[in-house]
Amino acid sequence: MELIRAAEIMSSHPEHARLPHDPEYGFGAAFIADHFCPILEAAIPIVDLGFMHADAVYDVVSVSRGAFFRLEQHQERFARACEKIRVRNPFDGEQEANILHEIVARAGLRDAYVWWTVTRGNPPMGRNEMVDPDKFENRFYAFATPFVFIFDDEQRARGVDLIISRDRIRIPPRAVDPTAKNFCWLDMQMALFEAGSAGAEWAVLTDEEGYLAEATGANIFAIIEGTVVTPDSGCLEGITRQSTIDLCEELNIPVVSRRLHVSELENAEEVFMTTTAGSIMPARSVDGKYICSHGGAGETSIRLHNLYWEKRWDGWDATPVRYELAGN
Ligand SMILES: Cc1ncc(COP(=O)(O)O)c(C=O)c1O
Repeated sequence: MELIRAAEIMSSHPEHARLPHDPEYGFGAAFIADHFCPILEAAIPIVDLGFMHADAVYDVVSVSRGAFFRLEQHQERFARACEKIRVRNPFDGEQEANILHEIVARAGLRDAYVWWTVTRGNPPMGRNEMVDPDKFENRFYAFATPFVFIFDDEQRARGVDLIISRDRIRIPPRAVDPTAKNFCWLDMQMALFEAGSAGAEWAVLTDEEGYLAEATGANIFAIIEGTVVTPDSGCLEGITRQSTIDLCEELNIPVVSRRLHVSELENAEEVFMTTTAGSIMPARSVDGKYICSHGGAGETSIRLHNLYWEKRWDGWDATPVRYELAGN
């Protein structure tokens, strides 16, 4: 089965063409605390603890063919993340959604990467105030840019080369809760450099006992004896991960979330990753060894990838962007 060349379609199909927009928003649009601005003018205070201490939660939703995918689920996950790290979103769900619609609309994007955060904000100055989460002025920022795939059509079609990091483990959940999508990326980023040094393209991290947690910025799946398996803990509850589980159920492919030990990858029939900025991303090798004997992406991974895009462009859990908000 041929992989749907989603990036090529986005750059050539008329239903993906960018809408008229103020040229100032050519690179994208941002919302900074209380105002909209072109992304290249967006700036944050240097003392915001989101920047200084990675003290923030965020989320990313995508837009394709003019509609958000699973916007409500992303917003619900984000609200739970805010609670978990004890920040107060200055905006309610409806106001937040309006901001997300408007940044996409201002930039006229029909395929967009839409990111937003609430940070701890500037540190309070009073005595003993650092111990009280209510003393911080939490801040909201968001931006929308043209959609980017972390792996292009050619890489997804042939399958990407992975390593299992030996140098790093995923930050343990008791240290930083991975289900609250957060700014602490150094474990995952260092693992990526390890992958690069090993001639690979991406990295997967385990916990201390060798159970798979997640890949850098993505969830990990393996197909073992015909069952699609993904870790049930130590990772973000990815929206694309859940969408993939839903697709498996629709296709009557057995699927389970459970602990998954790295040693089980020896017998995996296929391996793939999932994330908003990449959809379903087949792998062809792990630690330099091909997973499928033909040395390419697995058939089921490609099938899931293709169904994901077909369904999305058919209106699956879609929220049409309210372009009229841009006043164009
Ligand atoms: C650490 C981590 N795991 C998994 C994911 C995938 O989540 P989603 O499918 O909701 O984008 C992400 C997305 O950025 C991530 O940062």
